Amino acid sequence: MKIKAVYPGSFDPITNGHIYIAERAAKIFDEVIVSILINERKQGAFTVEERCEMARESLAHIKNIKVDSFNGLLVDYVKQCNAGVIIRGLRAMSDFEYEFQMALMNRQLATDIETFFIVTDPKYSYVSSSSVREIFHFGGTVKDVVPETVFEKLRERYSACIK
Ligand code: PNS
Repeated sequence: MKIKAVYPGSFDPITNGHIYIAERAAKIFDEVIVSILINERKQGAFTVEERCEMARESLAHIKNIKVDSFNGLLVDYVKQCNAGVIIRGLRAMSDFEYEFQMALMNRQLATDIETFFIVTDPKYSYVSSSSVREIFHFGGTVKDVVPETVFEKLRERYSACIK
């Protein structure tokens, strides 16, 4: 039986830390769907289309990964995909409380869907999309923590801020 997993998130934008988790997941599961939340209540730095495009380009080297977007409840989307697993990355203990609560909430909503945590490489333990955006905004360098394609998009978006 083939096991399909969904790796959901905001990915605003995708970072090398996300790519690391996606690569690890793709070695464990037959198919991984990286899916970006369409959040009507929160406007991101990039549109969902831009985020999907960056994710597709950054993950094109992994054959069993697809990129998609979703709205509504994650567990409903996971069921629509005929998947049984939710992947989440863990960077530090500080992530754990939020992730644990979300996993329990999702289990309460759908007992047949498992949350599977993958621990990051320590070199990405401090990397987040929000810190990448902020560093770039204030003219710092993020070249080592995002793929080239994302770096270029950030450059376009924040060009006015770069000295
Ligand atoms: O990368 P993020 O922002 O930490 O991802 C959070 C995400 C998208 C996984 C989470 O907010 C989510 O699943 N939202 C969809 C709505 C939902 O199902 N909420 C119940 C789970 S608490």
